[in-house]
Amino acid sequence: MSFPSDFMWGGATAANQFEGGYNEGGRGPSIADMQTNGAVDKPRIITRVPDENLYYPNHQASDFYHRYKEDIALMKEMGFKTFRMSISWSRIFPTGEEEKPNEEGLKFYDDVFDELNRAGIEPLVTLSHYENPWYLTEKYNGWADRRLVNLFLKFAEVCFTRYRDKVKYWLTFNEINAGMYPFGQYNGLGIFNEGSTDTWNLKDIPQLRFQGLHHQFVASALAVKKGHEINPDFKIGCMVALTANYAYSANPLDQVANQLSWQYCNYYCGDVHVRGEYPGFAKRIWKENGVNLVMEEGDAEILKEGTVDFFAFSYYMSSCISTDETLKKTAGNLFGGVKNPYLKANDWGWQIDPKGLRYTLNELYGRYNIPLMVVENGLGAYDTLENGTVHDDYRIAYLREHIKCMEEALEDGVDLMGYTPWGCIDLVSAGTGEMKKRYGFVYVDFDDFGKGSGDRYRKDSFYWYQKVIRSNGEDL
Ligand code: BG6
Repeated sequence: MSFPSDFMWGGATAANQFEGGYNEGGRGPSIADMQTNGAVDKPRIITRVPDENLYYPNHQASDFYHRYKEDIALMKEMGFKTFRMSISWSRIFPTGEEEKPNEEGLKFYDDVFDELNRAGIEPLVTLSHYENPWYLTEKYNGWADRRLVNLFLKFAEVCFTRYRDKVKYWLTFNEINAGMYPFGQYNGLGIFNEGSTDTWNLKDIPQLRFQGLHHQFVASALAVKKGHEINPDFKIGCMVALTANYAYSANPLDQVANQLSWQYCNYYCGDVHVRGEYPGFAKRIWKENGVNLVMEEGDAEILKEGTVDFFAFSYYMSSCISTDETLKKTAGNLFGGVKNPYLKANDWGWQIDPKGLRYTLNELYGRYNIPLMVVENGLGAYDTLENGTVHDDYRIAYLREHIKCMEEALEDGVDLMGYTPWGCIDLVSAGTGEMKKRYGFVYVDFDDFGKGSGDRYRKDSFYWYQKVIRSNGEDL
């Protein structure tokens, strides 16, 4: 089975990790601007105001703000059909509370979308990718406060209206299920934990986690409805971080634990977005976490009326679930389970599992029966720039195997719209703030402290991916 002729090949980024220009064009600070750089063995520090003795990698990021024309030309050269990016909320509403949007910010994205249009590349735009305006965290403690719903809706409406004829594909919240986890309270929900100064040791506040997530669900549903009113042709999706979990053993205890993990990690959020209601098992999750979820009158109807058109997700790795406490744990982007003896991991401990992508696509399509899109996938790796290029056969091998498994899933009957590997042009890592954890087809000459020319270099994977797109996935 080959890829459909309109398959959306491309690449993905997020404003906070790619754009830079953090204090230009009238932009206000976002929560990402308050995180220092870390490493695989060192957490990112969160500060309330920038400390001049510390380095904040998201401020400069990859400098797309000044280099977008060059970057879009590189995407065009690779043959991209689509480019996933996000709009920095604080570039449009610097504090989140202004009456009127920042025209300079809106103009920047006009220019980017026009450039993409000229290159024949369809934008796929995330409205919220771990980048709440910092002011909303200071004043309201982020999504803990219901008032963010209307502030977000105002932002979404401004974007939908302004880019009505330039953008057709939208995502509301990136990896919304990050809000299920203590560390996602800061990144995903913008909740500042007093007393927690780094991203690894956030104090767990389940009531705020689940309530904040509920506010996001309501905001997402209202945005979907509003978007469809503004332009009925819009395709608006959700975005969930998917980890393929397997039971570690045939022990029924492990099997049940794994089933519960799929419910918690993946289906809790997916069900609300796609089915427009909380699943039956939600009550058990609230009870176990001591959560008393406040649903306002009308929320149930809002969720029902704002279901998504397609289901987008990130997929990097798989994990194992076991009830045996003595087994070794593995690392991961959201959820670290137990190590799988059959899999290798990258240098950050993320287990590489292409077959898990086929498994995941089938699970999701079986449950939701709406079009799917893989909007993040890739190998974070150390690259060496030699004579103006990088020989990244390891990255090609990773991507090739994942593409083969997407093809298998198509054969299985899955409706798959597209594929946008993560960090198509190198960018700052969300987890560690490093630049040296690279995903791209294009090398960006910045180091972990933002030093370097910022120049772009085509890696071997650049030419390989160009060939893949040109042959519509035939020539791997
Ligand atoms: C996803 C996020 O979790 O994984 C991205 O949506 C992130 O923002 C990506 O960059 C890879 O994670 P990391 O920590 O390697 O940057």
